[in-house]
Formats: sequence, structure tokens, C-alpha cells
Amino acid sequence: MNYTEVITMRKSVRNYDAAGRLTSSQIAAIDCVIKDAVKPFGGRVEIRLVSTGDGSAFRPSTYGVITGASDYLLMGYADDNCSALSAGYAMEHVVLHATEMGLGTCWIAATFKGSRFNAVAGMTDSAPLKIVSPIGIPSGKSGLLNTVARALARSDKRKPMDKLFFYGDPQMPVPSDTHFFHPLELMRLAPSSTNSQPWRAIVTANGVDFFTVDKSPLGYLNLGIGMCHFYYGCREEGMNGVLIIKEAPDRIMPGATYVASFIVTIRTKPTIN
Ligand SMILES: Cc1cc2nc3c(=O)[nH]c(=O)nc-3n(C[C@H](O)[C@H](O)[C@H](O)COP(=O)(O)O)c2cc1C
Repeated sequence: MNYTEVITMRKSVRNYDAAGRLTSSQIAAIDCVIKDAVKPFGGRVEIRLVSTGDGSAFRPSTYGVITGASDYLLMGYADDNCSALSAGYAMEHVVLHATEMGLGTCWIAATFKGSRFNAVAGMTDSAPLKIVSPIGIPSGKSGLLNTVARALARSDKRKPMDKLFFYGDPQMPVPSDTHFFHPLELMRLAPSSTNSQPWRAIVTANGVDFFTVDKSPLGYLNLGIGMCHFYYGCREEGMNGVLIIKEAPDRIMPGATYVASFIVTIRTKPTIN
């Protein structure tokens, strides 16, 4: 399966098959993916896979109710922007691999202080637990509460490309026959808290500058998630490059905060435009 297929297939799953715990080979595979997860902006990020027994004592308090899950991904990260960007990127890498393995996930952001999750996570004070995600076999049924959660978050309503991403100028839509259109299409399909889709981008002469319109503590995390999708899209387009934080973006975007950039280093496909 290629990344476009995996990204197109991924959806937040809230209802799990209670009898379908992860097998030891699935656990080993996910542990490997966690170990290999790149943290492009450095910082302090810890991801763990834990089994919670029958899961009944582990109920994340969230707007979407999780049922049937007994295995969870737990992530702690430090309170700085680089850690939040890396955390979003690294965890989404794990989520996409889990999706490819036929497993469901659902990002959940909350304060887990004093919760059972915190007790099993074993995170350090410098990277406190901030995210959990159930991981397991989807039950195949979308419960009423899941339908309500999706409706509340307007999960099936993505903003159009021309409201998110721009070409050289914050007024100009990205032409569909240019290199970055496909990676940005994949970014648009990324999960974000309450489906806020706070990512914005301007294509530059040698890459893309990324911005966020989310001033909450989840702004940088959401952007890291989106950049993970974008990066895999670049790989599919035969482009390689580096994610960096410039001193200043090429263009400013009104109402948005500059966060980071992708600079192309290698193009293996012929130039389209
Ligand atoms: C950082 C983050 C936090 C989230 N927190 C919750 C949550 O607390 N409860 C929940 O049910 N879904 C949560 N979600 C899932 C989003 O609601 C979901 O990604 C979004 O509505 C888009 O739907 P999709 O993932 O099916 O594409 C979160 C997603 C992200 C990325």
C-alpha cells in the first residue's frame, strides 16, 4: 500500500472489537515503528504502546467515547514548540503504519494527571503525558456516540485546498499541475483536534513555508501531524528535502503564525511546470 492509499483510508476509530487484542507480532511491529519514528525538530518526545488488560478501567474523558479498546498508544512531550512539532509528526507516523496494518486509532488530547493512563505511562516530568490513542481492531460498527462525535467535530468536512494552501502569494491557489499540490492534498486529509485544520502553507521558490492559525497549545502538534502527511506526499512525488525553521518566512500570511519550512534537496521526477 502506498502513502496516498493509507492516508485516504485513515479515519478516527472510536469503537473497537473487545475480543480482538493486539497479537504479539502486531505489538512487536508497532514497537519497531515507534522506535524508528523520526522527530524532525528534535525536542523531548516519548511514545509507548501499553496493554490495559480488559481496558474497562481506562476511559479517556473526551468528546468522543471510546469503546472496546484494550491497547493504547501513549505520548508525552515537553512544553516547547519543537517538541510539539516532533510529537505530532512522530505519532502520526505510527498512526499511518497502524492504519496500513488494518488497525484503528483515534488521537485524544487531554490532561491525564492523576488518571490510570498516567499511572501506566511511566513518562518523565519533562515529557508529561498529553496524548493517548486506542489502537486495535475496529469493531466494524460505528456507534451512535461516534456518529455524534464526528458530527460535533464536523469530521467529514474538510476545508477546500484554496482556503488552506497558496502559491507564492497568500491570495493565489496552488495549481494542480505543480509539484506540491499532491503533498498538500495529503496534508489536508490529516487529523486535527476538533477537525480544526489549522495548517496553512505558501509554496516558495525552493519549498513550502508552513503556518498555523491555531494559537492553542495544540497548534504546533496539529502542524506536526499535517507535515508528516505532507512529507510522505513529497516522497511519493520523488522529492526529498529537509524540514527546518527559518529565521523568517519568504512571505507573511495575515492572521497566521509562521512555524516551519520544507526545503527541497532532491527531485527525482522531471519538472512538471
Ligand atoms: C491532537 C488531536 C486531538 C484530538 N482529540 C480528540 C478527542 O479528545 N476526542 C475525540 O473523539 N477525537 C479527538 N481527535 C480526533 C479528531 O476529532 C479527528 O481527527 C477529526 O475530527 C477528523 O476526523 P478523522 O480523524 O476521522 O479524519 C483528536 C485529533 C487530534 C489530531
